[in-house]
Amino acid sequence: MDFEYHLPVRLIFGRAKLERLGEIAAGYGRKALLVTGKHSARATGLLDRSLALLEGTGLATVVFDRVEPNPLTTTVHAGAELARAEACDVVIGLGGGSALDTAKGIAFAAVNPGDISEYIFGKPGAGALPIVAVTTTAGTGSEGDSLAVFTNPATKDKKSLKSPFIYPKASIIDPELLTTLSPALIAATGIDVLCHAMEGFIGRRSQPISDAMALQAIALIGRNLPAVYEDPGDVAAWEKVALANTLGGMVIDCAGVALLHGLEHPVSGLLDVTHGQGLAAMLIPFMEFSLEAAAGKFKAIAAALGEDTAGRTDAAAAALSVDAVRRLLERLRLTPRLRDLGVTWEQVEWLSENSLRTMAYALGNNPRAAGREEIKALYLKCL
Ligand SMILES: [Fe+2]
Repeated sequence: MDFEYHLPVRLIFGRAKLERLGEIAAGYGRKALLVTGKHSARATGLLDRSLALLEGTGLATVVFDRVEPNPLTTTVHAGAELARAEACDVVIGLGGGSALDTAKGIAFAAVNPGDISEYIFGKPGAGALPIVAVTTTAGTGSEGDSLAVFTNPATKDKKSLKSPFIYPKASIIDPELLTTLSPALIAATGIDVLCHAMEGFIGRRSQPISDAMALQAIALIGRNLPAVYEDPGDVAAWEKVALANTLGGMVIDCAGVALLHGLEHPVSGLLDVTHGQGLAAMLIPFMEFSLEAAAGKFKAIAAALGEDTAGRTDAAAAALSVDAVRRLLERLRLTPRLRDLGVTWEQVEWLSENSLRTMAYALGNNPRAAGREEIKALYLKCL
C-alpha cells in the first residue's frame, strides 16, 4: 500500500463560529475582497453581519457580489481586476460552492496573468492571495479542497481549476448558517455531497484516508440529509450534513470525481442547470454502469446507507446500494430526467464530445471505463 495525504486547510467547525470571521481573516491580510452571490447573503442579513465582524477587527473590506450559479471565468476576471485595483491582500468567499469557488479563482487570477482557462487546462500557477472560506450550503465541499469549477462562456467548457495555491488558508463551517436554505436547494446540494464521496470512494485513485472519509460522509448523508430536507431548522442534523460536505471535498481533493461528474459538467456547462439536479438525473444509471467493476466498494456503500448486506454476495449486496440511493432521491423529490433539465436528443453528441475532451481525468478515474459509445448511451438512457 502506498499513498500521500496532504490537506493544508485550517477547518474551524461548529455553531456560531461565524463570530470568529474578523479575527481569522485579519490574520491573513489588511484589506479583504469579500466575494458573494447576488442575493442570498444580503437577504438573510449574513453579509451585513460579516461586514460588521470584519470592520470590528479593523480589516478594510471591498464587496464583490456578482457571483452567479455555475460561475463564469469572465466573472473571475472581473473580480481579480477589482482585487488588483483595490490592492486587496486577502479574499473571503461567503456563500455556497459558487461563491467559494469564485473567491478561489479571484485569489488565483489576481496574481497569475492571462486567461484563467489556460490554468484550468494545465498551465501551472505561481501563487494566489490567501483565501478564507465561509460556507453557507452543503454541496461542493470547496472549503476543504484545492478545486474551483468554472464555465467558460465562449466554449461552455465547465471544468475545475486544481491548484495547491487555492486551498483556503482557513474555512469556517458554521452549521447554523445552513438553516435558511430551501428544501429544493438542500436536496440538490446534498446529493452533490453524496456523489463526491461515492465517486471518490469507487475511483481508481481512492486511498485509505479518503476511503474512511468517504464512507463516513455517505453514512452521514444517508441518515441526515432527509432530516434537514424535511426540517431545515434542525441544526443538530445540519452539523452532520455540514461535516459530510467538508469530508466530501476532502475526498475529491485527493481521490477525484469519476464518471458521473464527467457526464454532468457538460450538462450544466451547456445549459446552466443546477449541478445537483444534473447529477441526480444520471446517478442511478451511473451506479448501474459501474456496479460490477467495484462490487466490494458498492457493497460498503450499501452498508453505509443502512442496508443489511450480511450473508450476501458482493454483487447482491452492491445492488442494494442502488435501491438505497433510489429511495433517497425519491424522498428528496429529486428524480428529474435530463429532458426535464432542457437536454435534447440533438445535444447528446456535443455533450459526449465535451465530456471526452474536458473531463478525461474524471472518466479515467471510473472503475469501469466509458468510451464514446458508452457515454452517448448513458446520456440517451437518462434523457
Ligand atoms: Fe460536484
